[in-house]
Amino acid sequence: MARILSGVQPSGEVHLGNYLGALRQWVAFQHDNDAFFCVVDLHALAQEHDTALLASRTLEAATQLLAAGLDPSACTIFAQSHVPEHPRLAWLLECTATVGELRRMTQFKDKGGESESVRVGLFTYPVLQAADILLYDAELVPVGDDQRQHLELTRDLAVRFNHHHGDTFVVPQAAVPTFAARVMDLQEPTRKMSKSVSSPLGTVLVLDRPQEIDRKIRKAVTDTETSVRYDPEKKPGVSNLLELLAASTGGDPAVLADDYTSYGPLKADVAEAVIALLQPVQERYQELKAQPDYVAKVLADGAAKAHTVAAVTLDRAMRAMGLLPPR
Ligand code: TRP
Repeated sequence: MARILSGVQPSGEVHLGNYLGALRQWVAFQHDNDAFFCVVDLHALAQEHDTALLASRTLEAATQLLAAGLDPSACTIFAQSHVPEHPRLAWLLECTATVGELRRMTQFKDKGGESESVRVGLFTYPVLQAADILLYDAELVPVGDDQRQHLELTRDLAVRFNHHHGDTFVVPQAAVPTFAARVMDLQEPTRKMSKSVSSPLGTVLVLDRPQEIDRKIRKAVTDTETSVRYDPEKKPGVSNLLELLAASTGGDPAVLADDYTSYGPLKADVAEAVIALLQPVQERYQELKAQPDYVAKVLADGAAKAHTVAAVTLDRAMRAMGLLPPR
């Protein structure tokens, strides 16, 4: 069994891109691996956040992970801030990382890295992420394509630490899904589906009502042709619909295209397939939503288990760096 770890921001609503691109893989991974999933609430502090909402968003993220099918008897689900080893290891790693390598992080640059008023926490964000991973001796880190650079940094920091202070950390690998990783915006099909894209019509939320899902998919942007072909370059909208159908039903987008001669029936089938895909998730969500104490208990148990693993690794790292062990 490989040790795996991944993290999710407590940013509120989970969309179909998150579900097909990440969550569904996590659910599949949990049975054959020793899996840890972390709601990264400390990372949420690195940017403007709503103090009044953070706690409920953290619980909400955990609820959605469970609804998506993570099973607390098969994996460990916890909140980052409940395990004090995360920021403690992050400090040790910050003392090995360089300003130069953190400045090269594209996510930092994209989020305003040039500005004087950008927060130090946004700058060191990837080091905390490295701590998340290294604390659990994770071999595999299932993440989206956009996290590759952070994973490279994590590997660099681990290798460097091991080189200077002796073998301490497992050097992890990113596990980027090769299929259904790209769910595009329904209104701007050349951009990845994400909450920040302009029109809410472009994003299907995992908790959208069936009528809403149907409406969004029927209004999806296609093109002025009429033929159904899988051609992401020339026909991004239609190809995205075919990808969604394939990801929801387990088929191949290019093969599925042969079943259609016009866009209307394709959209109807995509809507039906996505609604059916999300139905069990939505049902579990309603059940869990009524039991916030249960979700809080899952997080408490998860944190206790995470702590026992993380404490050993932190201790190893502190000794390796030459700190006086407490007696
Ligand atoms: N930075 C990741 C994201 O935005 C979230 C994250 C934090 C993470 N810590 C992690 C992902 C550790 C994988 C492993 O998606």
